[in-house]
Amino acid sequence: MLLQVPRGTKDILPEETPVWQEVESKARRIFSLYNYAEIRTPVFENVTLFKRALGDVTDIVQKQMFVFKQGDDHFVLRPEATASIARAYLENNLGFGVKLRKLFYIGPMFRAERPQKGRLRQFHHIGVEAIGLTNPNLDIEVIELADKLLREFGISNYKFVINSLGCVKDKAKFADLLKQALAKHKKVLCKDCQKRITKNVFRVLDCKNEKCKEITHSLKIGQSYLCGDCKSHFDKVLKGLDKFGIKYEVKEQLVRGLDYYSGVVFEVVHPDLGAQDALGAGGRYDYLFKELANKEIGAVGFAFGEERLMLALPKKESSKKLNVYVMSLGDKAADKSLELVKNLRSAGVSCDFDYSDGSLKSKLNEANKLGARFAIIIGDDEINKGKLVVKFMQEGKQEEVEFVNAVGFIKNILKE
Ligand code: HAM
Repeated sequence: MLLQVPRGTKDILPEETPVWQEVESKARRIFSLYNYAEIRTPVFENVTLFKRALGDVTDIVQKQMFVFKQGDDHFVLRPEATASIARAYLENNLGFGVKLRKLFYIGPMFRAERPQKGRLRQFHHIGVEAIGLTNPNLDIEVIELADKLLREFGISNYKFVINSLGCVKDKAKFADLLKQALAKHKKVLCKDCQKRITKNVFRVLDCKNEKCKEITHSLKIGQSYLCGDCKSHFDKVLKGLDKFGIKYEVKEQLVRGLDYYSGVVFEVVHPDLGAQDALGAGGRYDYLFKELANKEIGAVGFAFGEERLMLALPKKESSKKLNVYVMSLGDKAADKSLELVKNLRSAGVSCDFDYSDGSLKSKLNEANKLGARFAIIIGDDEINKGKLVVKFMQEGKQEEVEFVNAVGFIKNILKE
């Protein structure tokens, strides 16, 4: 226990971090192309925020929140960031003077779920929230942005699954239709779902129980609950996706596991991920602001699970390598070597020094293990001649170079 990470969490090791950095830096670059600015909110919030935003009868609120008490206050490690960002938007008046606020975030989320492949208790989101407008073209942009990110990461074979829950009235109609349809099967549903029918019928659709799934899959509700405006909003979004050549499948009954959604909702699924096949998900949540602060503010966003992106990424070798590994033999050489190391680093060349007392062979072995492009060897002999040896690790050749020219020599080759 002492030497183990808590179940459902993991160390992201130095061998793995270059891929994470690459994904995150690509995401940042694209977010800025689409005019999204970064927001960083605390990793814990007041528990009431999530109860209000996500809904009391959701799996997250009922079973998955890491809640802790400090004095008289109850906090929760954030299970997601949409509610936090809505809170931050309202608290900091981020809508002041602008029609639309486009925000992105990258960071850890926490859910006390049963861990399995692609499902952790601490995981990471890369997400966006566009807050301020209800225009369907914004839904299209947000989905197109999700698609652009995946393509930029080199992920293929994914598919968007999309639906519309409609406005509040439509959603209520949808709930009634579901209740009526499920009432006929009530006895066969699991105990939780029997309660869910009256408490929050949409959550029956998220149930993992095989019998419940069989029944919900057999229901034919259609989309008759959508009013004219919501139907036309949904049609415009689908047309927009067609125009951009984005592959999607309309899936009736896709409702998402959080109560704040209304209007268009979507998930991005990938066949290689197994049971936890959603790479990311999102949608509209125009009524969240009404729920939190009685304000009419349109909003749409999505979040990718970063661990799941890692599972779907094409495997490739990391391109981040050490340029130079410097080694010295003898005391005089050590001083000179450290001077060179400093100069190389000042010139922007990544560089490290072998601090061990090992033999030249063991030092060269280390350079090899580190994947260094060059080893620089400085012995007392070389010092007397004012020279050093540059060994090209891949090519197996070596050259004697004047000490004073060493930095320029390395920089010139790296430029090629
Ligand atoms: P979500 O579907 O709960 O939506 O999470 C988004 C994504 O996070 C999932 O599709 C999945 O890839 C990843 N994810 C969720 N739970 C876990 C877990 N336990 N372990 C690993 N990955 C996980 C949201 O959280 C919404 N806030 C998305 C959103 C943003 N909607 C509008 N704006």
